[in-house]
Amino acid sequence: MTGSSTEKNIERAREQVRILTDKLGRVPTACVVTFGCQMNARDSEKLTGILIQAGFLLVEEESADFVIYNTCTVRDNANQRVYGRLGVCGGFKKKNPHMKIALCGCMMQEPSVIEKIKTSYRFVDLIFGTHNLYRFPEYLADVLEQDRQIIDIWKEPDKIEEDLPVSRKYPFKSGVNIMFGCNNFCTYCIVPYVRGRERSREPKDIIREIENLASQGVIEVMLLGQNVNSYGKGLEEDISFPALLREIEKIGGIKRIRFMTSHPKDLSDELIETIRDSKKICRHIHLPLQSGSSRILKAMNRCYDKEKYLALAAKIRARIPDVSITTDIIVGFPGETPEDVDETIDVIRMVEYDNAFTFIYSKRTGTPAASMPDQVDDKQAHEQFDRVLAEVQKYAKKQSSRFEGRIMEALVEEVNENDPSLLTGRLSNNVIVHFPGDHSLVGSLINVKLNECRGFYYLGEQV
Ligand code: SAH
Ligand code: SF4
Ligand code: F3S
Repeated sequence: MTGSSTEKNIERAREQVRILTDKLGRVPTACVVTFGCQMNARDSEKLTGILIQAGFLLVEEESADFVIYNTCTVRDNANQRVYGRLGVCGGFKKKNPHMKIALCGCMMQEPSVIEKIKTSYRFVDLIFGTHNLYRFPEYLADVLEQDRQIIDIWKEPDKIEEDLPVSRKYPFKSGVNIMFGCNNFCTYCIVPYVRGRERSREPKDIIREIENLASQGVIEVMLLGQNVNSYGKGLEEDISFPALLREIEKIGGIKRIRFMTSHPKDLSDELIETIRDSKKICRHIHLPLQSGSSRILKAMNRCYDKEKYLALAAKIRARIPDVSITTDIIVGFPGETPEDVDETIDVIRMVEYDNAFTFIYSKRTGTPAASMPDQVDDKQAHEQFDRVLAEVQKYAKKQSSRFEGRIMEALVEEVNENDPSLLTGRLSNNVIVHFPGDHSLVGSLINVKLNECRGFYYLGEQV
């Protein structure tokens, strides 16, 4: 589908929105509900952009005239939340039969989910998956024109669409996809099955998008990929992730560059040096550990062991002393014993993470780990989870406070939700600081003195 057919379909949708406006006597509303990671958040900005262009008024309420759930299936609780919300939304539809309900995202790539929706949630009007999100304008027009259920799921992508309208959540920062999919097949993970094989975007398209964002006032970009360190594989042009970063560094107007996620197995010395030498790349590396036990790491197919990970973390800390290192940890992987968890805790103590997300292993149908013997029972998993969490929090507190008294640059992201006399800013190392200031500063970079560390955030003052 070319850009012009995107426009043609949006025009078709717009015509339907006009008809609905006359019928309702007001502009129809739309609501986008997002689950999951930054990739999904970025996809939702595209869905929102299309809905706005079609003429909908964007609202937060799920009683809107058009509601779309952009789903995640990385852990079972994400799925359960979608079913829960869908039930509530179905209730709204009973009162407003003209309402349209749509589902998209990672969960929709699972055939068992589609079956369940077809039988138990028949009121859903539109379902599509991760590979055909760019066809949303066409589906939207169809579903508004016709009173029938539309389901279109593709097993694979056919191309990378470059020109969809986007409505950004923040005017001053933006996510930018640099690659899609994943080839790593960690044995617990469903992402490669629902997002397909790894595909890198052309560097020229990425640069053009970021130049464009900069011209619209964006000063911070977050480069998105499941494993950014393998960026460039499969492209005609010989380009690595560090080389891409150096190109992006040259773009005027861009002041901060972030990225996620870095798989430890592919993190090169060149990347560490590029970060160290950069004025724009933020002092934050998210380096998912998953487990500290070499035995479990092997069963997870992570392609590194405890020693290799520790050596990498030590090298990063030594070469970029002000960097913050955060991580993801899974507790309760099949066969994991309390001794394996001791190894994980050992890594937490050695690396002293600035922050960590800890998850209880969730069995994903179709992944190799789902059929491994010795699935860990809930009680043991929760006990071990609590042990890991306590350790993680201890170091996160210690690490956050290491900058107390320093003056650092913060990007002011918003007015504090609880206290409008305060602004909330983010430091290069991803730590949050609250400080008194004028609302007009939102979106700018300013120097803040970090007066007092309150656990995971600072109270500060503008200097
Ligand atoms: N590509 C990223 C991770 C994407 S998923 C990477 O490799 O680092 C985000 C996190 O969800 C993972 O790091 C992992 O900790 C967690 N996760 C993935 N599958 C899971 C599962 N089946 N159960 C529990 N946590 C899981
Ligand atoms: Fe999942 Fe592993 Fe790919 Fe990350 S690298 S998305 S954890 S398979
Ligand atoms: Fe979830 Fe899909 Fe992201 S499964 S974590 S939304 S890639």
